[in-house]
Amino acid sequence: MRSLLISKWTKVAVFLLCLVPFGELVWRIIKGQLGANPVEFLQHATGDWTLRFLVFTLCITPFRKLFKLPDLIRFRRMLGLFAFFYVCLHFLTYLGPDQSFNLSAMWKDVAKRPFITVGFAAFVSLIPLAITSTAGWIRRLGGKRWQFLHRSIYFAAVCGVIHYYWLVKSDVRKPLFYGALVAILLLWRLGSWFSQRRSQAPVRVPTPRVSVNG
Ligand code: HEM
Repeated sequence: MRSLLISKWTKVAVFLLCLVPFGELVWRIIKGQLGANPVEFLQHATGDWTLRFLVFTLCITPFRKLFKLPDLIRFRRMLGLFAFFYVCLHFLTYLGPDQSFNLSAMWKDVAKRPFITVGFAAFVSLIPLAITSTAGWIRRLGGKRWQFLHRSIYFAAVCGVIHYYWLVKSDVRKPLFYGALVAILLLWRLGSWFSQRRSQAPVRVPTPRVSVNG
């Protein structure tokens, strides 16, 4: 398993796999197979893939620990950057066809519709993560600060789920499913953080009582 995970070809294969949803969308655009409402189709497909890639990224750390596969870490940055890639496409399908690239109309909409406000907050919170995803930025920020900053991916995932829940009109099963996944991943993370802290807590050595009488 390890040799598979550290192979450069596995990384190439995962990269190509992550591009499949994008390829499918391009194919559908060329073939004109976007259904009766092409904009809605693109918004939904890119929104879905953003949320899926956020969940894939969040799964890496628990999977590394549970299945004792530390080399899975090699894929975390790529998956996170794909989440950002799909949210950029998602945002463009909103900014272009919905808002005609009119930034002042976009700000008004962000302020007016709560589901857009949280979606936008999730998008903005992912920008610093994408910028600082390189080894150079880990060095510049220092491991601890970098890790702290990159925990905001949980914020993005939670906002993404709320955004989805608020925008669906009737059937909330899918947003609830993603919500449950994100909640499990977040609880697992908190659990492992607490147990790590407990095991790192300094052990108190009882001081021997000194009798004045010797
Ligand atoms: C991490 C950030 C985001 C995530 C995870 C996300 C996720 C989603 C999902 C899952 C959907 C529904 C897909 C479906 O019905 O199958 C959706 C729809 C949508 N999203 Fe996002 N989104 C994000 C950010 C944004 C941003 C920044 C905007 C715009 C400012 C936006 C605007 C929309 C719009 C307009 C729709 C379609 C609403 C409708 O059909 O009524 N989203 N998004």
